[in-house]
Amino acid sequence: MIPFNRPWFADAEVEMLSQALRGGHTSGNGPFTARAEAQLEQIQGHGRSLLTTSCTHALEMSARLLDLQPGDEVIVPSYTFVSTASAFLWNGARPVFADVRADTLTMDPESAESLINDRTRAICIVHYAGVGADPEVFAAMAERHGLMLIEDNAHGLGGTYQCQRLGTFGALSTLSFHETKNITCGEGGALVVNAAPLIDRAEILREKGTDRSKFVRGQVDKYTWVDSGSSWVLSDLLAGILVAQLDRFPQIDQERRRIWQVYHDALQDWSGTNSVIQPHIPNGAEHTGHMYYLRLADRASRDRFISHMKDRGVMTVFHYQSLHSSPMGQRLGEQARWCPNSDAASDGLVRLPLFVGLSESDQARIIQAIVEFRP
Ligand SMILES: Cc1ncc(COP(=O)(O)O)c(C=O)c1O
Repeated sequence: MIPFNRPWFADAEVEMLSQALRGGHTSGNGPFTARAEAQLEQIQGHGRSLLTTSCTHALEMSARLLDLQPGDEVIVPSYTFVSTASAFLWNGARPVFADVRADTLTMDPESAESLINDRTRAICIVHYAGVGADPEVFAAMAERHGLMLIEDNAHGLGGTYQCQRLGTFGALSTLSFHETKNITCGEGGALVVNAAPLIDRAEILREKGTDRSKFVRGQVDKYTWVDSGSSWVLSDLLAGILVAQLDRFPQIDQERRRIWQVYHDALQDWSGTNSVIQPHIPNGAEHTGHMYYLRLADRASRDRFISHMKDRGVMTVFHYQSLHSSPMGQRLGEQARWCPNSDAASDGLVRLPLFVGLSESDQARIIQAIVEFRP
């Protein structure tokens, strides 16, 4: 079976992990954390990167930094991972679901703006599949309405929009280093703080409400409890793995985008003939090769495609299910919401295997199996 995903760990990861183990600093905020954060800051070219235990936790830190009050609302796309919404709910706000664009499956600016009211505090966009979610439009919208813009950049490390890195448009952005992401340490994430006044508080929140980060940097001689917070620091062992991955970031990025392009070119005719929709990359957007997906007309065709591929030894998987119509979305009172593009993607989208190490012959086998399928 060709798997859907296989993380690429090399000898360098094993070496960094053993250096971290032997070095004696295995908790968070140690030397490997500092190195990985510096590498991220170099890639992003902006903001302060703070490693966290997951992207979910980085989103929760964003919610905390908003100081949400009961009744506050945060606009998120319906077509996203649960954490984009649950992080705000967990911190006292009501997530409100906008539809996504039919072509990119990123949040539709018109749909989002129609949901803004005097309870809205923030907009959280998702760069789905590493394609910029109209970040300039949303940055202007947030400014116009006095809201905070947060970028859930779980898929978008290294991507750009109009030559600007994804993750640098909002006051805050979040990254994921989960096993399925382009750069991984198994589980992990980062909060990127672009708004300088929020950096101190973000560091404090991550360190259980203490100023331990200043202590680690030698800026205070003891650390103490100064605010609320939680334990969101990543172990230096995992940060060691991340350092090795980030050292190979250009290679990983290039190879994923090469594999993406092979699918895109090889499946063009078959997609056109069979009314299957390929990913759309808008002018000015540079994607990250995070995922290659196809969109079939409905759930029945998509499910038939998945079992057709499974019979031929290829694992393909569907993706998000609309949040507005999920059991939790319904409990939040979203019964009346209509997000047809999000629903269509939930039903028809399927993701193909894409990982560094996918051989040319295996990719050719996948493509052959696809073109034998008649939707
Ligand atoms: C858009 C998006 N946001 C957040 C997450 C959560 O990431 P993590 O597993 O690092 O918490 C995911 C996970 O796949 C995701 O796709």
